[in-house]
Amino acid sequence: MTPAAYVRLDLDAVRHNLHQVKRYAPNHKIMAVIKANAYGHGITRVARALTEADGLAVARLDEGVRLRKAGITQPITVLQGFVCSDELQSMLQHGLDAVVHTPQQIELLQQQSAHNPGLTVWLKMDSGMNRLGFKNADFANAYQALLRCSIVEQPVNLITHFANADDLLDDKTRCQIDVFNRAIEGFPGQRSIANSAGIIGWPNVISDWVRPGLMLYGCSPFAGKTGTDFGLRPVMSLHARVIAVKNVSAGETVGYSGTWQCKVDTRIGVISIGYGDGYHRHTRPEAPVLVNGQRVPLIGRVSMDMITVDLTSQPHASPGDPVTLWGPGLPVEEIARYADTIPYTLLCGITQRVYVVEQ
Ligand SMILES: Cc1ncc(COP(=O)(O)O)c(C=O)c1O
Repeated sequence: MTPAAYVRLDLDAVRHNLHQVKRYAPNHKIMAVIKANAYGHGITRVARALTEADGLAVARLDEGVRLRKAGITQPITVLQGFVCSDELQSMLQHGLDAVVHTPQQIELLQQQSAHNPGLTVWLKMDSGMNRLGFKNADFANAYQALLRCSIVEQPVNLITHFANADDLLDDKTRCQIDVFNRAIEGFPGQRSIANSAGIIGWPNVISDWVRPGLMLYGCSPFAGKTGTDFGLRPVMSLHARVIAVKNVSAGETVGYSGTWQCKVDTRIGVISIGYGDGYHRHTRPEAPVLVNGQRVPLIGRVSMDMITVDLTSQPHASPGDPVTLWGPGLPVEEIARYADTIPYTLLCGITQRVYVVEQ
């Protein structure tokens, strides 16, 4: 019996995509970004598929602890670091590496007596994103302060993050690279700059580590492209089934608020998936859905447990027939456009009731 809604996860595709990252960045070490439950794919299973990555990155401490408890031994960097002494202790206890981006974190490190092993630190520069990190002189001062912290492993590593690398015409990325390179000149630590868009779009950035996220899951970081354009394979596909087929007369409306009106007598299919599963509520009519492998258009509003499609081109479709919402042959990037969002939110948004099938 197939579940009403399920995702299929192709872990071979994760490994394939990691190899593609290596082709784009052959002289770099790879810190695979698996925060937010590995972009909705399952943090532990993805970590286990990524044994060839040199390190892993998560956003939050609890994600790192979870990986350690699952027996993952690679270096794990916590991109948000710690905010209090208890969190710092936990990072030491679990052997997690910290991004340091505030003066308060440095004070906590100064208060900490020596520990063996010490804490591996990535000092974050704000090179123009204006989110996390130190700017200009504060960055140099923070670096000097970390040199004097007995708990900090030396050398201190150096990290920044791109704001607009997915826009190849925007000068901002070049500026960020220059700002970062000037700030770290002469510092001996390892350097890390590029996310997926940086890896593919800015191949001449000099650093030691790259930090791919989205491309590991098979998606394009560039609007108007799909992962396939860059030799990537989708990892997640989302599936459901037809649960009812009916005829609706011309002039009648379908679904909540009656936003869809049939222009002609229409054979519609009701599909067992909705925003309660992570199929985006704002996906527009005409978004493609695969029924029996053939594209049909979404009609009406997405409701919590169901969507409706126009089955005019599929006169033989019937309850039980397989449906794909995204996956091979129907890129999640394309569905994201119909939902006025980005593939990240669709992948991260799959809910708990959706079954998971590993392949
Ligand atoms: C600091 C940092 N590095 C790398 C990444 C990976 O980015 P992407 O998924 O676009 O490759 C992220 C993701 O948001 C991030 O916050």
